[in-house]
Amino acid sequence: MNPAADSLSHILYVSHLAPQCNATVVPRILQTARRHNAAHGITGLLVFDGQMFCQLLEGPASEVAPLMARIRQDARHVHLQTLYEGEPTVRHFEAFSMGYAQAEDEEPLHALAQHQGTAALHALQALLPQLDVEH
Ligand SMILES: Cc1cc2nc3c(=O)[nH]c(=O)nc-3n(C[C@H](O)[C@H](O)[C@H](O)COP(=O)(O)O)c2cc1C
Repeated sequence: MNPAADSLSHILYVSHLAPQCNATVVPRILQTARRHNAAHGITGLLVFDGQMFCQLLEGPASEVAPLMARIRQDARHVHLQTLYEGEPTVRHFEAFSMGYAQAEDEEPLHALAQHQGTAALHALQALLPQLDVEH
């Protein structure tokens, strides 16, 4: 295998719940995510505020890229906007196959979506202490 394809990769994006969907889609997304991600060395965090999703995925580049391609095609959300892509040296969310947190109101993810690059990553890190992340 190409060694570059197995480097650690992480990606942060925001998206909006599709108009025809409601919050009941979230438990099913989490169930799929936790099963798939655990089996493919992917860890991360999903935050949902009732309208917007924010997800950080991290894992081998060879796994993250095809997963991201599937997530982009998923009709349960729209307006997917990548905020950050990089090759970290360490995992930030090692403990989670997909941690989940519900944001109390819509302000934090709206604010996060205004950032790009490392500023977006830092905005997510700054938000974490306010979130009650479940495994
Ligand atoms: C906001 C959002 C986040 C998702 N996160 C993941 C994830 O982390 N892992 C995963 O396997 N599927 C995730 N999914 C589901 C995928 O889009 C897709 O439905 C799933 O991987 C099954 O793909 P398949 O039907 O082609 O097998 C997510 C979907 C949405 C809408």
